[in-house]
Amino acid sequence: MAREFSVVGVVGLGTMGSGIAEVLARSGVTVVAVEVDEHAAARGRGHIEHSTARAAAKGKLDEAARTELLARIRYTTTLSDLADADLVIEAVPENLELKADIFRRLDAITRPDTVLASNTSSLSVTEIGVHTQRPGKVVGTHFFNPAPVLKLIEVVRTVVTEPDVVADVVNFVKALGKTPVVIGDRAGFIANALLFGYLNHAVRMYEQRYATREDLDAAMRLGCGYPMGPLALLDLIGLDTAYEILDTMYRQSRDKLHAPAPLLKQMITAGLLGRKSGRGFYTYD
Ligand code: CAA
Repeated sequence: MAREFSVVGVVGLGTMGSGIAEVLARSGVTVVAVEVDEHAAARGRGHIEHSTARAAAKGKLDEAARTELLARIRYTTTLSDLADADLVIEAVPENLELKADIFRRLDAITRPDTVLASNTSSLSVTEIGVHTQRPGKVVGTHFFNPAPVLKLIEVVRTVVTEPDVVADVVNFVKALGKTPVVIGDRAGFIANALLFGYLNHAVRMYEQRYATREDLDAAMRLGCGYPMGPLALLDLIGLDTAYEILDTMYRQSRDKLHAPAPLLKQMITAGLLGRKSGRGFYTYD
């Protein structure tokens, strides 16, 4: 029988974690949202309030549903508040030591049958899972930004993930109104492996002053029908996140396609992270 995940933990409320918490709460799931401190938790709550207010303003969510959605999310700074979770989705920054440490702690805190999922976009789910006593109950659930809008979730199974766990997570993803694709544990999975070489190439073209940012973006929007141009998309993803993804894929494959364009690093060092810092390739209010 399909297993229900009615209480779900989300660890990390950055761009992805807050979007994931919103998606879960919107589907009637009780969410326990964990951040490192009060400030970060308040910022995560702010993301969710802002995003749902926009959805309400656009007629995608009525006010009563929005109030119920927001009431389903409990914010905490204590990981042990996840003791009763049926599923935990980790969405902290792309750093293996950090994720390994969180999985080790989650393993000790949660019930032995709790499924532990990572939203990692480029690290190995297998390497994260071995830091627990239950690697068979560890999967990847890779959401796309903006999570409340984009329909895909890559469900990543390692060679030791139990088939029942994959089936339960796939059913859960469908119940969220999303479309799952089930894949093995390979850097970048499907979408990022195909997308990031293209994004990196666009940064190189811009770096070489081959084209202006506006023309690069217009070419892909108006010539290829993409919803956003590559530089605007990098600003949405976050340049720091994009760099980590490229660097991880490059270190694994040594394929020059994924060697991060030097300009990315320079912009990150200068604090230009994209939308989240107010400035990246473009400037935001
Ligand atoms: N809940 C429900 N619906 C929402 C919503 C919310 N919180 N926020 C927005 N929406 C709806 C809007 O109402 C709108 O619906 P309609 O089209 O029916 O009017 C729709 O979602 C689009 O939203 P907006 O009108 O605000 O914005 P837009 O039309 O300018 O589209 C975009 C913005 C969705 C970001 C679009 O440009 C897009 O899809 N861009 C590409 C994004 C992309 O490629 N993301 C993947 C990045 S890679 C990644 O994420 C992986 C990784 O590991 C980093």
